[in-house]
Amino acid sequence: MPRASPLNVEKLGDTLVGRLTRDGLMSSAQLRKLLRISQPSFSRIAHRERDRLLVTGKGRATRYAARRVIGGLSRDIPIYEVQPTGETRTLGTLTPIWPDDGFWFTPHLAGLEALGGHSSGLPWFLTDMVPSGFVGTLLADHVAVTGGVPRALNSWTSSDALRYLAQRAHNAPGNLVVGDGAFRSFLSDRPRPVATDGCERVYRKRVKELPDSLALGAPIGGAQPKFLADRTDVGVSAIVKFSPRSSSESATRAADLLVCEHLALETLAGFEGAPRVARSELMERKGQTFLEVERFDRAPTVNGRHGVLSLRAALAARAAGKTTARLDASPVALETLGWAGAASELERAGLISRESAEAMCWLDCFGSLIAKRDRDIDGLGLYHEGLQITGLCPAYGLRPSAYEPRQGAMVEVRFAPPLPRASQTPQWLPARDAAEKFWRRAAGERRLSKDFRQIAKHNAAAVRALRDVARRLPK
Ligand SMILES: Nc1ncnc2c1ncn2[C@@H]1O[C@H](COP(=O)(O)OP(=O)(O)O)[C@@H](O)[C@H]1O
Ligand SMILES: [Mg+2]
Repeated sequence: MPRASPLNVEKLGDTLVGRLTRDGLMSSAQLRKLLRISQPSFSRIAHRERDRLLVTGKGRATRYAARRVIGGLSRDIPIYEVQPTGETRTLGTLTPIWPDDGFWFTPHLAGLEALGGHSSGLPWFLTDMVPSGFVGTLLADHVAVTGGVPRALNSWTSSDALRYLAQRAHNAPGNLVVGDGAFRSFLSDRPRPVATDGCERVYRKRVKELPDSLALGAPIGGAQPKFLADRTDVGVSAIVKFSPRSSSESATRAADLLVCEHLALETLAGFEGAPRVARSELMERKGQTFLEVERFDRAPTVNGRHGVLSLRAALAARAAGKTTARLDASPVALETLGWAGAASELERAGLISRESAEAMCWLDCFGSLIAKRDRDIDGLGLYHEGLQITGLCPAYGLRPSAYEPRQGAMVEVRFAPPLPRASQTPQWLPARDAAEKFWRRAAGERRLSKDFRQIAKHNAAAVRALRDVARRLPK
């Protein structure tokens, strides 16, 4: 009788890892069939290859994947959460797997089981931390020298982004810290206090010293130039936006828009029934305007943080099937949703309350009436605790962005405030009142250029003219 040929465990191990590298996650039944081996042989080979494999799930749900190594990072990358009290906990671990830019998230915190699983690219709850915009471009250029990532942000892969996050991003928006390197920096980070007295001088210096003066671990998004400031004497962590120090038309416009952003936030802060907004301070010195906005994701006196997810991330969570709700909008449609559209998607998915959805709709109406063109899914935040959404963050970045210069050139804007949908009446009516108040304040605001005051006067009249529409809406 011929003897069964001995198992070539080395070759079978390579074939196993090779198939998983090419095709991704598989069950043991699938793999046994592919390799034409028995269960005991499979167990032996899988054990031998354990360092190259990720084994997830239990019993019939067990799946195997080939681990992917990202240079400079550990095989399993812990994800930490900083709580408002300053205490921290581990949410889970992220494991890079093949093929492509794949990842597997293993939750450690009770209640997060449903969030575990595969993503191609970073999981939705980390995407807000990836550098973008003005600060991101400077960061990429700066960290490329030592961080082993491409200089141009748009050529970063998810693995490049993860390398940056895990090695550097100890002060990203929200409350997550990825990896032990960043976590150590979080523990050792000391504020660089900027006292109220003489802070403009410090700010002017920081502008001059960009990008060195950026907290390189703080990938704050958005198109406008900004840096961070620890205002420890007033117990505030701030984002500081600034205009260029020049008297050119476009620099004047940038300053006007910062003044408008402050006025819009102040108008809503004092408007009964308006959604909550971030607190801001405006400073103008020697032809340069600074807008200091208090961070709502920080509790600086105790080193605490609040979790924040953009609407984009929350919608992506839903698209990834991490909630029980069905996804009605396609990924392409998500891009064009706007705040009111995103509000109804998220409310229908059971991710936000009716109250939050109405506040988003309120802000959408107000934005449309103050010529804020970019009311997109990156422009509002949702608070979360342990990745469970708890409510809407204060609004920020409310400015008449239609008036921004494009590619440095001034553009002609014909402001025609859109008519509301009848279903938005309860939010649109007060938002219209607030927008009229905003434009009227702007029309008389000495810190604005004469040109912009003229624009504001015209727009106040246009919004005032909607009073007749307000009268005719169904109550
Ligand atoms: N007050 C704030 N607290 C915490 N994070 C903020 C605050 N304001 C803005 N951010 C974060 O910074 C990003 C850019 O803000 P935004 O005001 O839209 O900047 P820009 O004027 O450059 O468009 C936001 O997406 C958000 O993540
Ligand atoms: Mg913005």
